[in-house]
Amino acid sequence: MSFNVGGVLLPRPFKIRRLGHFGFNVADVDVAMAFYAGLLGLKVSDDIDFGPPRNIGFDFSDVGSTIGYFLRHAGDHHSFAIFPRKAMDRLVGDAVPDAMTINQLSWQIGTMDEVFQGNDWLVERGYAVPRIGRDTPGSNWHTYPVGPAGVLNELYCGMEQIGWQERSKPAQIWHSYSEVPQLPHISEYEELKLDGASGHDLSAGWRNTDEREAVYEVEGLMLPQPFRVVKVGPVRLFVDDMEEALPFYRDTLGLTVTESVDWSGHSCHFLRTNTEHHSLALYPVALREELAITTRDCLSFGFQLGSYTQLRNAVRYLEKAGCTIKYLPQELTPGIDYSALVMDPDGHALQLYHYMEQIGWDGKPRPASQRRQVTGSWPETLEAQSDEYGGEIFQGPLG
Ligand SMILES: [Fe+2]
Repeated sequence: MSFNVGGVLLPRPFKIRRLGHFGFNVADVDVAMAFYAGLLGLKVSDDIDFGPPRNIGFDFSDVGSTIGYFLRHAGDHHSFAIFPRKAMDRLVGDAVPDAMTINQLSWQIGTMDEVFQGNDWLVERGYAVPRIGRDTPGSNWHTYPVGPAGVLNELYCGMEQIGWQERSKPAQIWHSYSEVPQLPHISEYEELKLDGASGHDLSAGWRNTDEREAVYEVEGLMLPQPFRVVKVGPVRLFVDDMEEALPFYRDTLGLTVTESVDWSGHSCHFLRTNTEHHSLALYPVALREELAITTRDCLSFGFQLGSYTQLRNAVRYLEKAGCTIKYLPQELTPGIDYSALVMDPDGHALQLYHYMEQIGWDGKPRPASQRRQVTGSWPETLEAQSDEYGGEIFQGPLG
């Protein structure tokens, strides 16, 4: 069966274009924010209170703060989210496994038709879809299929964009939907025209502020940290049941397997969307202990930095700030060469890197023997690869 997606016949009624956002549930949101905003330099787009009136009928009296934050590295309203773990556990109850700290794995697709026809297709195939409609804040249209092991995946389009004013849409004009909208829907521009005519102050939203001093030179620009996150992903998941997980991400969501690696008797799979070598990597859960990772479901989440120089400076800066840095064997991260894991305050590993191998029309990755070999001490400069600085680019000023 094939589906007409914008005039092209595809095996499913949507096509994932990129990994859009991701998030962790954390023990202490303020501590996590000091790390993600205060050290990594992500910007805050909005806060969110998961308590009443957003969620009523739950006992939040013993969970501490119910506030989470939406963060961004570029114009997308959010590319990362930090939510309060105890409050989230209270909300989902037994719906996800204990100790799950991933709040979502969100994939950008192209159009409203793709989102809502995709939703119908997923429901027909028996997937639970606990949320559909329009997420706020962020105003993105979405459907949320539950993937293997309870990992909440999201397919979305139309993420709110934040520009030089650093200001998000105010809550009064979010226009939440918890159901499929009537299509075709009016455009955001028309929506805002109506909001303005109704007397709403369109400039009353959250404005990001950063009190840190910009004391580091980053290749000709002064920034508060000696690097800049320019892209999010890939996500590396630990998987209990590869027979279930691999078909979900490959056959249901439509990601392509770029490469599979056998490491120490474990089969690991690297799947892509678009041209990057991998946007998602699946590792058997048995590797968790061997790699000394303490979080249950996520081996790491990636933050691509603007250059190799920035990566080297980032590792030094984060080490000096007291962060734990670890390194994975290069064979476990094909497509990425120099990279380091920095641990967040909850023990989540974040993969910092600068280069991602790019895959062309023939789908062939670079042979392992032709990849840059990472040696013990990192050199000051690298010989360029044919696809250096390729792939999704950061737009706008670095700061
Ligand atoms: Fe989302």
